[in-house]
Amino acid sequence: MSAATVDIHLTDDDLRDALREDVRRGLTATPKWLPPKWFYDARGSELFEKITELPEYYPTRTERALLERVVGEIAEIAQAEMLVELGAGSAAKTRLLLGALSAAGPLKAYVPQDVSVTALQGAADEVAEEFPNLAVHGVVSDFTATLDNLPRGGRRMVAFLGGTIGNMVPAERAEFLGGIRDVLEPGEQLLLGAGLVIDPAVLVPAYDDAAGVTAEFNRNVLHVLNARLGANFDPEQFVHVAVWDAENEWIEMRLEASRAMTVTVAELDLTVEFAAGEQLRTEISAKFRREVLESELTAAGFDTERVWTDPDDRFALVLAQRR
Ligand code: AVJ
Repeated sequence: MSAATVDIHLTDDDLRDALREDVRRGLTATPKWLPPKWFYDARGSELFEKITELPEYYPTRTERALLERVVGEIAEIAQAEMLVELGAGSAAKTRLLLGALSAAGPLKAYVPQDVSVTALQGAADEVAEEFPNLAVHGVVSDFTATLDNLPRGGRRMVAFLGGTIGNMVPAERAEFLGGIRDVLEPGEQLLLGAGLVIDPAVLVPAYDDAAGVTAEFNRNVLHVLNARLGANFDPEQFVHVAVWDAENEWIEMRLEASRAMTVTVAELDLTVEFAAGEQLRTEISAKFRREVLESELTAAGFDTERVWTDPDDRFALVLAQRR
């Protein structure tokens, strides 16, 4: 029996439409680009899990160790009755938070959100089993739709961990944070995990590992386009590139065409020309300075209550309160 309920606000058809629109827009733009959310089919999610275990990829283990250290303090301050986790994905960090919030007091409900119904149902069921006193209610949707459909009642904490906020450019972050502010009541909380600006000599290898897992993850978006839109990319003809953009303070991942190529995307009736050496941008992963995080939160209507960082200042957890 499955103890967790799941609401679906995003169907396979919705996802297909969104993919088609993103691919048409991105591949007809100059320079070409694709949004990073399309990395994550089953293979892409597996590759990402492998990335999190690479020696070079510090963010996941750094955030996890930090969370382990401070989760009790977070729970004491937050006194949350409902935890809403955006992009819930794999549930390792969730358990830490749920355990601490339950121990600190009034937690009654857990609402994980993800775009993948399979990932979500499985994780939600496991949590429901492990925390039998908790109402577990998953939401399959994108972030904006989640916020529109957020259950009310009880003191809520929205958690957005992993540093995924870095996938957004500043204007998108402002809109996203403003959207969270709009659905929260004054005094409710946001817990944000964000990568900090560090030495590029550490940062760049995290996105360009020696074993080539990140390269394979990057190329996976081309496999996704082949499988879902009938495209005929030859992924092996694209070289993984990771560069630190010092002005914007973000890592940019790109795929560079090793030679001139004509690619067709059958389902879109689209033909795309790549020049030799042309680069397709597939992801930005912004890193933050503390002041920037705090001022973006202030601008979005939050008061920063506490910022915790790891001993090497590579990652931050910020607890903020809706003003
Ligand atoms: C899942 C978005 C946090 O930006 O570090 C890992 C994705 N990209 N390696 C990140 C990613 C390349 C990751 N996030």
